[in-house]
Amino acid sequence: MNRPAPISSRLPDFTWDTLEAAAAVAAAHPDGLINLSIGTPVDPVPPVIRQALADASDAPGYPLTAGTPALRAAIADWVARVCGAGVDGLGVLPTIGSKELVAWLPTLLGLGPGDVVVVPSVCYPTYEDGVRLAGATTVRTDSLTALGPDPRVRLVWVNSPGNPTGRVLPANHLRKVVDWARERGAVVASDECYLPLGWSAAAEPVSVLAPEVCGGSYDGLLAVHSLSKRSNLAGYRAGLVAGDPALVAELLKVRKHAGMIVPAPVQAAMIAALGDQEHADAQRERYRARREQLLAAFTGAGFTVEHSEAGLYLWMTRGEDCWATVDWLARRGILVAAGVFYGPGGAQHVRAALTESDEHIAAVAARLALP
Ligand SMILES: Cc1ncc(COP(=O)(O)O)c(C=O)c1O
Repeated sequence: MNRPAPISSRLPDFTWDTLEAAAAVAAAHPDGLINLSIGTPVDPVPPVIRQALADASDAPGYPLTAGTPALRAAIADWVARVCGAGVDGLGVLPTIGSKELVAWLPTLLGLGPGDVVVVPSVCYPTYEDGVRLAGATTVRTDSLTALGPDPRVRLVWVNSPGNPTGRVLPANHLRKVVDWARERGAVVASDECYLPLGWSAAAEPVSVLAPEVCGGSYDGLLAVHSLSKRSNLAGYRAGLVAGDPALVAELLKVRKHAGMIVPAPVQAAMIAALGDQEHADAQRERYRARREQLLAAFTGAGFTVEHSEAGLYLWMTRGEDCWATVDWLARRGILVAAGVFYGPGGAQHVRAALTESDEHIAAVAARLALP
């Protein structure tokens, strides 16, 4: 029998497996390995959210794919507050974390062979994975003008603040992307999961749904958000998408058939998380302090930190191949991500996450201060 090629054959090897050798070196450090290679939250889930989850644990019935009316209202209010969007006419939908939406968006929008998806030149790998799952073609670029009049472009991903670079795109840049895409009938998907984590007043992150970017219309726009980092909810899988009501309605239709439903207790937890700013501010302050300590430590050790004005990472170079830097740090017991994971443009960079305990961040600084 002639079996079709497995879908996994369209996808690259899982990039983190290539860090295994460096992880073994780092683990041999007498004081142990400190892992800055992944951005997984380590601080506790805020009690107000855990309580809401527990209170909603008697959930025998199927939850709504669209989210409960209370969750939909909470999402709309939060997006209005954080993104500067108006509530009227805004489509909203909860997602099972944002990674699943990123990975399946091209498929959910009906893209396939012959269609082109534009992603940032150095970016979160799941944008390209999603394009491969749909059988479409990826073009990596930060400059749409360089792309020329390609009529096959159906979707453009932007990510500001960016992973891994921490780069913030100003409103006029985003506006140009939106205008370019609207002229061609392409969708703009804006991954804004780091929007609440800006560190520089000179580079305040701005949403694609802000009036100065979208001109007051959500036409052709989707903003993707996550509670993983803002609220330490990576383990709950809690994300959301907001924007063009027609596009969001289409996503809902397909997701209902596909069973892409946020569990009821997580929906209740999301309401609590979105309605409470206090825990988000406290978490942000933890990251601010860790970032300041790491920035001083890496700079003092001769690294050049680029962008990184927002988000959860330092994007750095020692002007050498990224694997040489990964190895240099591994010998000090510190594991970071190789820049090449995010595209060929990252071949001389590494990415260090701010998501380690205060104790481990202080230990990184001490290790980097040694000759
Ligand atoms: C740019 C970007 N988008 C999306 C995600 C997915 O986050 P989650 O699925 O936890 O919402 C991440 C995770 O690190 C990310 O860095």
